Amino acid sequence: MLQSAHIKRFPWGTRDDAQVLIVHYGSKSTPMIAQQLRQIGLQSRVVHAAELSTLVATDYRPPLVILSGGDDSVFNPAAPTLADHDLAMLKQHSVLLGICYGAQLLALKCGGNVAKADIPEFGEVHVHTTIPFGTYAGGTAVMNHNDEIVSLPPGWQVLASTAHCKHALVGAEGVYAVMFHPEMDHTEHGEALLAHVAFDLAGCQPDYTYDLAAYVERCVTWLRQAAPSGDVELGLSGGVDSAVAWQLARRAYGARLHATFVDTGFVREGEVEEVRGYFGTDGISYFDAKDVFLEHIEALPYTGPEPLGEAHYYDRVRRTMGACFIDTFVRHARQQGRTPVALVQGTNYADIIESITNLKAHHNVGGLPEKLEVSVVEPIAGLFKFEVRQLAAYLGLPEEVVYRQPSPGPGLAIRMWGPVTRAKTRALRHGTRILEELIRKHYPNPRQRPAQYYLALAPLASCGLMGDDRVYGYAWVLRGVSTRERESYVTVGAFQFSSAFLQEAALRLTNETTMDDGTRFVRVFVEVTGKPPSTTEPH
Ligand code: XMP
Repeated sequence: MLQSAHIKRFPWGTRDDAQVLIVHYGSKSTPMIAQQLRQIGLQSRVVHAAELSTLVATDYRPPLVILSGGDDSVFNPAAPTLADHDLAMLKQHSVLLGICYGAQLLALKCGGNVAKADIPEFGEVHVHTTIPFGTYAGGTAVMNHNDEIVSLPPGWQVLASTAHCKHALVGAEGVYAVMFHPEMDHTEHGEALLAHVAFDLAGCQPDYTYDLAAYVERCVTWLRQAAPSGDVELGLSGGVDSAVAWQLARRAYGARLHATFVDTGFVREGEVEEVRGYFGTDGISYFDAKDVFLEHIEALPYTGPEPLGEAHYYDRVRRTMGACFIDTFVRHARQQGRTPVALVQGTNYADIIESITNLKAHHNVGGLPEKLEVSVVEPIAGLFKFEVRQLAAYLGLPEEVVYRQPSPGPGLAIRMWGPVTRAKTRALRHGTRILEELIRKHYPNPRQRPAQYYLALAPLASCGLMGDDRVYGYAWVLRGVSTRERESYVTVGAFQFSSAFLQEAALRLTNETTMDDGTRFVRVFVEVTGKPPSTTEPH
């Protein structure tokens, strides 16, 4: 499900006769529903809304059907919907839970009404229960909606509300509608809500555990089937995802596997040496493709700075990176006398979520060119970061690799405002090095660091005072984010840096960085927003 033909993704935690069917209405958090079900011990099956009627016509009768969120409005005639006869059939055999868009659809179809909310909610709100719902007792929850349920179908009750949304959790007798997102990391006790629906109301029985040994064994077998013969390439970035993919692929392919670290020119200062230190050179080459990447990126016409122009430009930056990556791997392999049949990538679930909803083209997902000469094989595509880290520890990777913070494939290119230039990249690499030093000094324990931290270069000219002179210079944007246990990056919070760290960062970043032409950095801004409404990366 949810993938294009040339990409092969190892399926995990899903089965065709699963007790829980998730109907995908377009929300980026659909995979998180599946993952949260795994957390409470349940496998699931996911189908697109358009496939539901076909499935309802079979004799598959799951005890629980969850309708996901989606970014459409139920009033849009082209929006995905739920046919009356499907609803009637589902109600007969299954407990139904609608989330956000799915909640509105259920309410509307069951005889209630939906309208644009007076105060749309995006972000964290407080939910209080009005009627006990299993052990779910309310708390912080993530809302992300324009429309809301304004009147309830006959017989439905209000089970929980927020300050602006009276009908936050409503329903009765096997049909429930929740406007907030129990599956999202920043919702408290979402698991309790889902567990009540799945186990107490729908009568599901646990059928999943995250068995690491079984994962490795089944994945290795699957990898061999995905590329039974021929040379296989792997893109090793040094992050935990690609390191785990490498470990699995090594077991599957042995000497047929060749890993390459590509220096795109947009990696952090010292990155190549660090990765070489962790992984060595046995079966791994380190390839300098700086010029190719920089030339292609610099050749893109800049369409900013208005939001739409910038969005269009960075979409092209990501796609160009994707094309350059694939090209580099294939070219490099051929130069060394190999003819690769497959490329293994450490794409994880969170990368896929972001890309399937067109939020952005991840260079290693949506950024892949349409016409590929090799198949792309993704052994950890069903796992969230924390599951990848568990697997990494199980596979014996060093602690520093297990707990390495994520970095986007396009690297520093998406940490500046356009156009991307070599000069900005050089300054950013230097600033990033300073940030790394400061993080290590002020947060020596990796587990107390922000889940992700970075510096972005804002070419926003403003005035500073240096010596006796007023000087016009640029600004740095400093971002630290915190994630919850699953590290999904679908939601993040703003990390609270210590004031000692911030003071030293302000001093060093303004004093020690300049552009090649001498332009200074006269300000440091610290981001305070979470996600939503802001993404983790600026682009
Ligand atoms: P956002 O910025 O959407 O990112 O909140 C969520 C997480 O994904 C990482 N990220 C990427 N990783 N290729 C990647 O491999 C990409 O194009 C990409 N874009 C964002 C980001 O760093 C964060 O951890």
